Amino acid sequence: MDVKLKGKNAIITGASRGIGKAVALRLAECGANVVIAARGQESLDETVKEIKNKTKAKIVGVSVDVGKLEDLEMLVSTANKEFGPIDILVNNAGVSSQYSFEKQPLEDIEKLVHTNYLGYVRLIRLVINQMIERKSGAIINMVSGSTLCDPVPKTFVTYSSLKVGLRAFLKGLFWELRDHGIKIISILPGVVDTDLTGKLQNITSEQTERLMSCETVVDMVMFALSVPQNACPLELAVINQQTPWTKPVIDYEQKQAK
Ligand SMILES: NC(=O)c1ccc[n+]([C@@H]2O[C@H](COP(=O)([O-])OP(=O)(O)OC[C@H]3O[C@@H](n4cnc5c(N)ncnc54)[C@H](OP(=O)(O)O)[C@@H]3O)[C@@H](O)[C@H]2O)c1
Repeated sequence: MDVKLKGKNAIITGASRGIGKAVALRLAECGANVVIAARGQESLDETVKEIKNKTKAKIVGVSVDVGKLEDLEMLVSTANKEFGPIDILVNNAGVSSQYSFEKQPLEDIEKLVHTNYLGYVRLIRLVINQMIERKSGAIINMVSGSTLCDPVPKTFVTYSSLKVGLRAFLKGLFWELRDHGIKIISILPGVVDTDLTGKLQNITSEQTERLMSCETVVDMVMFALSVPQNACPLELAVINQQTPWTKPVIDYEQKQAK
């Protein structure tokens, strides 16, 4: 998909690997100025180098924990100093934690809330006024296809219910902001071949072949950025073929369980 992003300024969180890195590379290939964020400095530096080598884009890596408000403030001010106002925010950083709730470590619950929910809401709050001022902007958020499950998948109750909350927040925000010319987009991916899924339990190599590639999700991001200014793809779900729901990673028969 050929989307012209020359001169557009983008922040992508969780972009040192996985989906975020693939999004950063594509945005850079399309000419955007890119600020990538993640905690680990080493992998961040490697990704900056790799994208610089493959594209002519301007790219900066900022070591950030999206769970910390002061880090998010520093991220936005660095991006503004380097490139100017933000046109595109890709809220993507995320962690997983697969446990029966009674066994889930309390620190994992804390991390999920701060990384996968609060980090997204706070970062939007920090960039939204510069978008309102310019009457344009796109905020793309990596939610989860698991939010299409009701009830949310067992052993993913904390992860998925926070994504459900995030999805509800984003939908409401879209209606609140649509007259300001800002797009708020939720991407709902099924199971993607990344480190995050690599850590999930009970995945055999045969099942791994059924995982989607990051590029499939990137295509959704590019579609969201390609639609005319007067339209917004509010939610885009891309779910694995040949798997009833996301089984085998998530047991879709849970509704029948007693
Ligand atoms: N993979 C899937 O099947 C799938 C499906 C649906 C939705 N998603 C969502 O897609 C997003 C990306 O997932 P992924 O599969 O690409 O994960 P991944 O391969 O594990 O990559 C996660 C990225 O987020 C960064 N990160 C994690 N915690 C962070 C924090 N507190 N502050 C800043 N950066 C942080 C990681 O770098 P550091 O560790 O160095 O910080 C890394 O760059 C997540 O929100 C996930 O919930 C994934």
